Amino acid sequence: MSTAFEPIRVGRFTARNRVVMAPMTRSRAYGDGASPTALMATYYGQRAGAGLIVTEGIQPSAVGQGYVTTPGLHSAEQVAAWRQVTAAVHERGGLIFAQLMHTGRIGHPDLYATDGTLVPVGASAVRAAGQAYTPQGPRDFVTPEPLDAAGIARTIADYTAAASNAIAAGFDGVELHGANGYLLHQFLSTNANQRDDEWGATVSGRIRLTVEVARSVATAIGADRLGLRISPSNPFNDIVEDDHRATYRALVDELNPLGLAYLHIGEGPDAEFTAELRARWTGTLILNPYTPEAFTGPEALKLIETGATDLVSYGALFLANPDLVERLRAGGPFNTPDYTKAYGGDHEGYTDYPALAE
Ligand SMILES: Cc1cc2nc3c(=O)[nH]c(=O)nc-3n(C[C@H](O)[C@H](O)[C@H](O)COP(=O)(O)O)c2cc1C
Repeated sequence: MSTAFEPIRVGRFTARNRVVMAPMTRSRAYGDGASPTALMATYYGQRAGAGLIVTEGIQPSAVGQGYVTTPGLHSAEQVAAWRQVTAAVHERGGLIFAQLMHTGRIGHPDLYATDGTLVPVGASAVRAAGQAYTPQGPRDFVTPEPLDAAGIARTIADYTAAASNAIAAGFDGVELHGANGYLLHQFLSTNANQRDDEWGATVSGRIRLTVEVARSVATAIGADRLGLRISPSNPFNDIVEDDHRATYRALVDELNPLGLAYLHIGEGPDAEFTAELRARWTGTLILNPYTPEAFTGPEALKLIETGATDLVSYGALFLANPDLVERLRAGGPFNTPDYTKAYGGDHEGYTDYPALAE
């Protein structure tokens, strides 16, 4: 039997424990040109005790940004600024992967630092129900511009360049955000993707963008430092998946031969399906279990002991507990997350959660 506190191989690395910090957008990238700050370095450095940190979603291109003051990895300025973050984690012996999040149709023209001509892109001209949080306040999502062949090629190139930028910035690896209703998930879905070409129409068409981005990034940085996050059956951001089991079976089968560092499942309402994906996936699994009405708690570590997963990721509990691994080992106590300070703001509710020793 394995426990959460034993090391484990993740791609080309050895994580010192099996507790992962889940990706969490915090909207505090106040540096010039959507760059991270010294405060962000403090925040991630405080959490370096994780077996692996997956950063907040990072836009691989200007048009990939879906929220205010989220950081990017598409300019030299951003690469330079991320170095302080990766150094802070490495000084404390941690591992950190950059989550590349292209939000696709979950964006808004008012979010982009351009002349207002840039519009969100997507699989098809299908507007998501709901609102974007723009600097001017909440605004209805707009109808995205469907990516044509050149747009798809450019998007794959953007992900690939951002992944290479991540390595240049000192990240150990990259996680592709294929979950939660953003661009890759939009292509995987049966409602946002209405295409009748080779990038839609069938299961193999709808998984193609995720597979091709993974293939391209793996070629650029090495498959053993690339992870993918998926959330089968999660309807967040107006996603409908008529056939999620068939879709993710096919996706896993296509990806297995690539030898990625890990698959990260953000479990959705069809939690029973996870065991099947676990058996089908030949690599390392990180699981963020489905816990409606609550956040993932210490009991989730049992999933490692039973073999349901290799590693467990924690969102809210890691947000509020910089020394989460020590607290899990000690059986608590745990600080409570303050969601009113989740997005934007200063150090409050960000770097001021105390560690046990304090
Ligand atoms: C403040 C906040 C921001 C989040 N941002 C992201 C994100 O950028 N990328 C992502 O994949 N998931 C994001 N999530 C989802 C978490 O990674 C995680 O799946 C979710 O919080 C459920 O896990 P938990 O119960 O451990 O918190 C976010 C969650 C929270 C609470």
